[in-house]
Amino acid sequence: MPKKVILDVDTGCDDAVAILLALNSPELEVLAIGTTHGNVEADLAALNTLRVLEWVGRDDIPVAAGAAAPLNQPLRTARWVHGEDGLGNLYLPPPRGKPTGEHAADQIVRLARRHPGEVTLIATGPLTNLALALVKEPRLPELIREVILMGGSAFYGGNLSPWAEANIGHDPEAAAAVFAAPWPVTMVGLDVTMAALFTRAMHEELGRCPRPGAQLAHRVLAHYLDFYDRVYGRDGCAQHDALAVAVAIDPTLVEAPLLPVQVETRGEHTRGMTVVDRRALLADRVPELFPDRDRWHVRVALKVDGERFLSLLLERLTR
Ligand code: RIB
Ligand code: CA
Repeated sequence: MPKKVILDVDTGCDDAVAILLALNSPELEVLAIGTTHGNVEADLAALNTLRVLEWVGRDDIPVAAGAAAPLNQPLRTARWVHGEDGLGNLYLPPPRGKPTGEHAADQIVRLARRHPGEVTLIATGPLTNLALALVKEPRLPELIREVILMGGSAFYGGNLSPWAEANIGHDPEAAAAVFAAPWPVTMVGLDVTMAALFTRAMHEELGRCPRPGAQLAHRVLAHYLDFYDRVYGRDGCAQHDALAVAVAIDPTLVEAPLLPVQVETRGEHTRGMTVVDRRALLADRVPELFPDRDRWHVRVALKVDGERFLSLLLERLTR
């Protein structure tokens, strides 16, 4: 039986690839997609998501636009990373379809109630919709099977600020609520996403495949690769969001120990940081230091089998 998933995205070049990976993976059944502010506004993210779905003939999947702004700070987008249109400046034609009109947070609550204990939430943008859904339905942690989120870092540091990864830094209060709720969370952060870069050689291989999804990913990623080249001087771009989807497909792609995680919301220089208690890696040796260990519920991905992840991604996009 495939895992039932809801994607929550801020589409976004790497979100687009993540969506394509999910659609091409028989291990997953995409029930619906919600969008949030982040890389672009939530409304544009919804249109971009519809563009991706229609490109590959999957306009049967409902798309709900969600939170237009973070809970407690002004909206900030990342067009300098993803292009003015959010999809690598391709300026694709408007989609034929429309967002459903339901709020993405309501969509999460409705589907969680309809499929109690079965739904995996894969979040690849700021966590505002998930935080709103927790307020709307306090029993959500019991209703959801697990949350897999792209965000944060334990050792790597930040990309939005010295210590904040973008998805957490774009709404620290929402992230704090999501990490605090008692549901199983897997944090797929920069420690692993920046350790498995998708190279230009892989990009060329993608370009040789005539399938519509491969062609779309190839076009979207051209811009993203240039960004990585310019900013990081690296031959290759991270596939942040696709790695979160890949972990839903195959959790053995990462080593992810249970660790306590707090989100910093007040730090003058560290707002949006995921404060991971790395001392807890020693918990087996000194259990007396960690009396609350049975309440830990966040797995933090610290290592990735990059080769296996990237070949899974290429294979799923091109087959
Ligand atoms: O930090 C990387 C994350 O921020 C990715 O999800 C990217 O799409 C942006 O949302
Ligand atoms: Ca994203």
